[in-house]
This record gives sequence, C-alpha cells and structure tokens, in this order.
Amino acid sequence: MLGGLINRLKRKKVSPKTRKKSSKEDAEYILLYGTQSGNTQTMAKAFFKGLLAEGKKVFMDELDNYSLYENATHLIIFTSTYGVGGPPSNGNYFEDLIKEKEPLNPLKFSVVAFGSTSFPEFCQFGVDVDKWLESVSGFERFIPLVKINEQSISDIRSWLSLWNRTSGMEVQIGLKDIGKKKSKIEDFIVLENPEINEDNTSLIKLRPKNQISFQSGDLLGIIPEGSQKPRMYSIARIGDDIHLSVKKHDKGICSRFLCNLQKEDIVVASLERNESFHFVPDAPSVWLIGNGTGIAPYLGMMEENQHSPLKLIWGGRTESSFHIYKPYADKAIKHGRMEKYELALSREGNSKYVQDILAEEENEVARALESGAVFMLCGSMAMQDSVLKVLNKITNDKLDRAISSFMNNGQILKDCY
Ligand SMILES: Cc1cc2nc3c(=O)[nH]c(=O)nc-3n(C[C@H](O)[C@H](O)[C@H](O)COP(=O)(O)OP(=O)(O)OC[C@H]3O[C@@H](n4cnc5c(N)ncnc54)[C@H](O)[C@@H]3O)c2cc1C
Ligand SMILES: Cc1cc2nc3c(=O)[nH]c(=O)nc-3n(C[C@H](O)[C@H](O)[C@H](O)COP(=O)(O)O)c2cc1C
Repeated sequence: MLGGLINRLKRKKVSPKTRKKSSKEDAEYILLYGTQSGNTQTMAKAFFKGLLAEGKKVFMDELDNYSLYENATHLIIFTSTYGVGGPPSNGNYFEDLIKEKEPLNPLKFSVVAFGSTSFPEFCQFGVDVDKWLESVSGFERFIPLVKINEQSISDIRSWLSLWNRTSGMEVQIGLKDIGKKKSKIEDFIVLENPEINEDNTSLIKLRPKNQISFQSGDLLGIIPEGSQKPRMYSIARIGDDIHLSVKKHDKGICSRFLCNLQKEDIVVASLERNESFHFVPDAPSVWLIGNGTGIAPYLGMMEENQHSPLKLIWGGRTESSFHIYKPYADKAIKHGRMEKYELALSREGNSKYVQDILAEEENEVARALESGAVFMLCGSMAMQDSVLKVLNKITNDKLDRAISSFMNNGQILKDCY
C-alpha cells in the first residue's frame, strides 16, 4: 500500500503538467498512458508531439482517466506492466472503465505494450488491455499489439513505421524527446550498387569516410532530401564496409534514392547501435531467420561467426531472388562458418514460408532452443508474427514452455519492420 503511494508520488514528480492541446471533447485521437516510473509517459509524450506536428487533434491522459470522448475516432494506449504481469499504478481501473462505458462512437484502438523480457510475464498488462478492447463492443482494432522491450528504440521505430504505414501519416518521434542522444552524421562513399534485381531489391556497399565503430545488426539512419523523417536500414559489417539490402518502393523517397545511387556518390547518414540485435558469438548454435531485405545483417554475421553451428532460413519469392545474397552464403559455407541454408520460396515449387520450414523441423527447433540456441528474426513484421506463433506452438507442445521464456533469456532476438 505504502509502496503504491510512494510510486504515485514519484511518478507525479517525474511527470510535469500533462499537455492537452485539444480538449477531450474536441480531440480525434485519444492517447492514454499507463506508467509507474515515467518511461512510458515520456514515450507517449514524444508520440503526442509527433501527432500534433501532423496537425492532429490529440488529447493525452492517464489510463485510469479513461472516459467518453465525443469526437474521438482513435484510442491509442501506451502502457507498461508491473508486479507479476499486472498494471502500473495508474492502470488499475481501466478494465472496469471500458466495460462500464461503451464509447459514444466506434473507436479504432492500438496498444503499445512496454515491458522487459527479464520478467516472465513480458508485457502482460498491455496484452490484457489489447484483449479487453478486442472483446468490448464499440472498439475496433487499428493495428496489432506491439511489445517494446526495455524502451528499445528499434522496437519503437518498428511500431512507428507500422503506425505510419497504416495511417498514411508521417509521425516522427524526436530522439531528444525520449532522452536518447542524437547520433553523429557521417559521410559514406558508395563502393558498389549493382543493378536492382527482379524483386526491386538492391545490395549496396558503402564505406564510412571516417573511422567509426559499428557492427552487423546496427542501423543506418538516413533523412532523405525533402523529408524530415529518418528511414532506418539494417546493416552488415564486412571488413570496414557496410552492406545493406534495400527494397525499392514505387513511391518511396529514400528507397528510390538509395537504389539509384552511383559508385562514388556520397550518402549522408548516421550509424545507430542496435545492442539487442548483435551476434551472440558463444551461443551453442545460431539460427538466422529472415525474409526479403531482412537478410542484410546476416550477411555480416556469417562472416563474423567463428565457433557456433550456424544456419540460415530465408524467405523470398523465387530462387533467383536469392542470387544477390548467394555468394555470401556460399563463401560462409566454404570457410566453415555456416553449416547450411534453406530457402522458403513463396512463388516457386510448393509455395512455402520460413515458418513452414520451422514447423517441419519442429524436433530440431525444440532441441536447439532447449540447448540454448539463439534464434534471430529480421524482416517483415508479418513474418515475425507468423514465426513467433509457430515457435510458441513448438515450445508449448515439445518443451511445455511458452516462447516468452526464451525471449526473456535472450534466445530470441528481433529486428523487424
Ligand atoms: C528498424 C528498421 C530496419 C529497417 N531495415 C530495412 C532494410 O534493411 N531494408 C529496407 O529496404 N528497409 C528497411 N526498413 C524500412 C525503411 O526504413 C523504409 O521505411 C523503407 O525503405 C521505405 O522508405 P521510403 O522513404 O522509400 O518510403 P516512404 O517515402 O516513407 O513511403 C513511400 C511508400 O512506400 C510504402 N512503404 C514504406 N515502407 C513500406 C514497407 N515496409 N512495406 C510496404 N510498403 C511500404 C508506403 O506506404 C508509401 O506508399 C527498416 C525499417 C526499420 C524501422
Ligand atoms: C517491480 C517491477 C516489476 C515489473 N514487472 C514486469 C512484468 O511483469 N512484465 C514486464 O514485461 N515488465 C515488467 N517490468 C518492466 C517495466 O514494465 C518496464 O521497465 C517499463 O518500461 C517501465 O515503464 P514505466 O517507467 O512507464 O512504468 C517491471 C519493472 C519493475 C521495476
């Protein structure tokens, strides 16, 4: 009881006056946050500012202040989890409130769950909130629930890119608003950018002009001309060079810019460390799982690996989609740094996805996870969801454990977008 009071006081201290640019009656977007020690509120505020910059009418408030909103169309919830999968101190009554008061107009909901994989009930309160909203009439899902581990900036970016894609907005979250240091902008020289392949994908080689420290799994951030929104690209380190794989989107500003680069052009960008997606050199075995451009960081990890049995499972449309990456994989096999690779081709032979291969190899997957293997996932969010579903089924059926326990101990690493 006293602990709760102290937490409440602490939270009050870290939370300066809530900014309410629109009243709750006027706002179209209602952003509610559940927090105990203030981190989730900081994230919510950054998103709030981003929505305001997009000209949206937004109202931000605490989770337990949920009420009826006359003009709202969207309900966005950022919440952390406390105790053992329970609510933070300002989220105790939310379940009762939404069940008591049906919204005045249908509300499209999106839940962002903050937590830590070091707890067995990872993001459980956010999961519960999402489930309650799904079950109560008057609420309609806008985007799937996303879990954020330890306020990971790359998890936030993935969620933001999903939000922007679905809403057609260009919301940005300022790094300084979430207390992260701004990365240094550097020049990179284009060494190679061969012809784009039939899947509209390029494999680009860059060399930093100055010596900088980075490794495979880090992200290259680029702000293209005419835009303020940074675009992120997962990178491989091979020697001192950066290799990245870029899918060209028809109307995509940055992907078109990158795919059209010529040898010796200069790219201005920043390199951001992505701690949670680095190779684990001493793992008993490593499974690299990805689709499309998600293979990029693995091209460097195949070089980096010294001791671990390593396997790649990659999903693409056709065998020739893999041609641009094949030399890297063949070289790693030749030098004994990778055991094998398997392709899941969706438009050739028996149409297959990476999760189908995992399901076929369920016994091997279970044995590997049980013995401490690290599974890395990079590529589309849709792939991530499907793969996690299959892995969860395997670990439940074969090991009587939920996949979350393997996420908690760092055996499942994700970098999806
Ligand atoms: C952590 C992280 C890592 C990433 N790594 C890579 C990577 O290694 N390689 C890579 O190619 N991209 C990667 N991305 C995506 C990348 O940052 C850009 O979002 C993408 O290149 C589109 O940017 P754009 O400027 O070309 O398109 P925008 O100008 O932002 O958008 C133009 C059009 O493209 C559509 N669009 C944008 N992104 C997608 C998408 N993913 N799927 C379908 N349609 C889309 C939009 O709906 C819009 O119509 C990553 C994203 C994140 C968050
Ligand atoms: C005492 C305590 C209990 C926690 N319990 C959980 C938990 O059960 N599940 C989880 O995913 N995270 C748990 N967390 C992690 C927090 O949810 C995470 O650090 C979150 O980002 C904190 O956000 P906040 O500062 O907005 O409250 C716990 C943290 C603390 C300090």
